[in-house]
Amino acid sequence: MSNQNNLHPSIEEKINQLLAQMTLEEKIGQTNQPHTFGEPEKEAVRQGQVGSILNATSAFAGLGSSPSASAEVCNAIQQIAVKESRLNIPILFGRDVIHGYRTVFPIPLGMAASWNPELVELAAAVAASEASADGIKWTFAPMVDIARDSRWGRVAEGSGEDPYLASAMAAAAVRGYQGTDMSAPHKIIACAKHYVGYGGAEGGRDYESAEISMRTLRDIYLPPFHAAVNAGVGTLMAAFHDLNGVPLSAHRHLLTDVLRLEWGFKGFVVSDWASVEELVNHGIAKNRAEASALALFAGVDMDMVSGSYLESLGSVIEQGRLSPEVLDEAVRRILRIKFLSGLFDHPYTDPRRAATALLSKENRQVARLLAGQSVVLLKNEAGILPMDNRFRRVAVLGPHAHSQGELFGTWTPDGRSDEATSIAQAIQEIAPKGIDFIFADSNDESIRKVSLADVAIVILGEHPSRSGENSNVSDLGLPPGQKPFLEALVKQGVPVILIVLAGRPLAIPEEIHLSKAVLYAWHPGIEGGYALADLLFGNTNPSGRLPITMPRATGQVPIYYNHRNSGRPIGYQDFSYRYVDLPHGPLFPFGYGLSYTAFLYANLSISALAPSGPYEISAEITNAGQRAGSEVAQLYIRDRFASISRPVKELKGFQRVMLKSGETKKVTFRLNLSDLTFTGLDDLSILEAGEYQVWVGPNSQAGLEGRFELEL
Ligand code: NOJ
Repeated sequence: MSNQNNLHPSIEEKINQLLAQMTLEEKIGQTNQPHTFGEPEKEAVRQGQVGSILNATSAFAGLGSSPSASAEVCNAIQQIAVKESRLNIPILFGRDVIHGYRTVFPIPLGMAASWNPELVELAAAVAASEASADGIKWTFAPMVDIARDSRWGRVAEGSGEDPYLASAMAAAAVRGYQGTDMSAPHKIIACAKHYVGYGGAEGGRDYESAEISMRTLRDIYLPPFHAAVNAGVGTLMAAFHDLNGVPLSAHRHLLTDVLRLEWGFKGFVVSDWASVEELVNHGIAKNRAEASALALFAGVDMDMVSGSYLESLGSVIEQGRLSPEVLDEAVRRILRIKFLSGLFDHPYTDPRRAATALLSKENRQVARLLAGQSVVLLKNEAGILPMDNRFRRVAVLGPHAHSQGELFGTWTPDGRSDEATSIAQAIQEIAPKGIDFIFADSNDESIRKVSLADVAIVILGEHPSRSGENSNVSDLGLPPGQKPFLEALVKQGVPVILIVLAGRPLAIPEEIHLSKAVLYAWHPGIEGGYALADLLFGNTNPSGRLPITMPRATGQVPIYYNHRNSGRPIGYQDFSYRYVDLPHGPLFPFGYGLSYTAFLYANLSISALAPSGPYEISAEITNAGQRAGSEVAQLYIRDRFASISRPVKELKGFQRVMLKSGETKKVTFRLNLSDLTFTGLDDLSILEAGEYQVWVGPNSQAGLEGRFELEL
């Protein structure tokens, strides 16, 4: 197994040999990443001035499409690098392959809602095999930023609010993209981003400053990055923002002391788009030369797009403002990944692969399975779902009933909307025979026609451009006009089944109240239409669970389940951290999701495997309903008394269990002492003896409760 966190002597030897031959200009060239494939870039490749090319246009921020790569185009440039440049060092082609390539999977937040890391790993493997067939060897994914404020548009790109779930997803994605050997032709290098605390942007405004204590950083924001590093991730991306005043692109403590010295990361760090030169805007560098010196010294090995390294590192080093060893080390890290990813041995992509690798039937099946597991059933009054032959006339209405590309979500430059099936179309294909469908071209027509139906499936939600990079909202409601539309439909007296497409948890308590059933579908990807139709008609049973708290109102964010108790929690006398104008607590808690069947928990047992742990915690789950279904059993703990106020709950394990009707299964979790550590007063990891509460249950607000006493 090739784990890039271990050094391979033969590769290190080859790197040394190359370094010994390289001129200063050629070394700097390896740290430079332009973003187009034009004639000037080709000449720069020939001159050894390019280490990597990012396949994207300058307008590219997950919002639109940009021409896909192709094996032929990459091979042609690669040939210049490998045959015409002096040292024949191959180019690394990177692209934002964020949630699938031609086969578009649910947005990452939706993938996290599956609570199924194995399936997420498979999806990443599919994305790797498709992207690599077009010559891409490096993806800028997974995004592993924790987000507690869903006004932030990029909440769509991560795994939500919880460090444990996000770590599991981060490791799964890295394994899927890279495999055990990232030099295999169908594997690509992963990039854990955006290091770190980017989701803490003040006010949910992308690129804004974050103010996060070192303790919270270590306990909440850093763990998914650490998990990615432990899973062998080849690269990391430094974030745009400043953390407590220090921009991440110049954060030596985090990029070097923590990442390299503490965690032993041996891959390389790329800046975010032009974030090196943006150090000038941050006000910590006077010009691009100063910015370059700061960033390289901090541990940013490659300059994405800004060209500052190429322009100024030579003079910075020649003037003695930066030691040449710092540059050598950056180049060493970049070359290491180039060797490990097999670029020196097979720099070209077989142009015949794309014809069969992209959007195969098997790939679409993975997308359909994952989309189905990502949808969260939030409400199902009187078991209205799944639909059965009570409903002969079914209206399928709403602004997204016939949407195709809108199913994709943010960052899908390689998805083709005409290859997606709309929800309305999929419903017609999957519905049992004999149902009459009612469609409408406008809201007015919908309101006129809905009373002809026995039931209305209404698809509302956000356009993909409302989430993702640079797409924050100040109001977590549905886009303007959608709520009145729903109210008008409901007024006609027909029961409504609401499907919500969204890049974030929205605050929609009234819309949920008005509807008989609600399927929260995120942006479910290319097979989302079929996956939703399967769920509506009961071919599959909902099993998605919220990876992030759903608020009642925008004013509640940041809101997250693993908060501390405060001295005046809710229920403490008459004084508490309540809002006077809002019921307490979330609309739906972290981990929540319904099924068409009912799961019962019983017989919690906690046993210490040794006198002071680890612990084995088990419970029995029974499917007490009529249908087979999957439950996501969740393990939470609370450290009751500690030197630091600890969260009221912390997820420490989860398992997806498939149960036939009437079946009982025992789930067993192992709680290691390392699961009980936290960052103490001196910012170091500690473990404290004492009382712990334990829950095993269906979400962060329910479950069987027990306790144990840790003696050290
Ligand atoms: C900027 C984004 O922040 C980052 O996530 C992305 O990978 C790069 N642009 C490259 O497109």
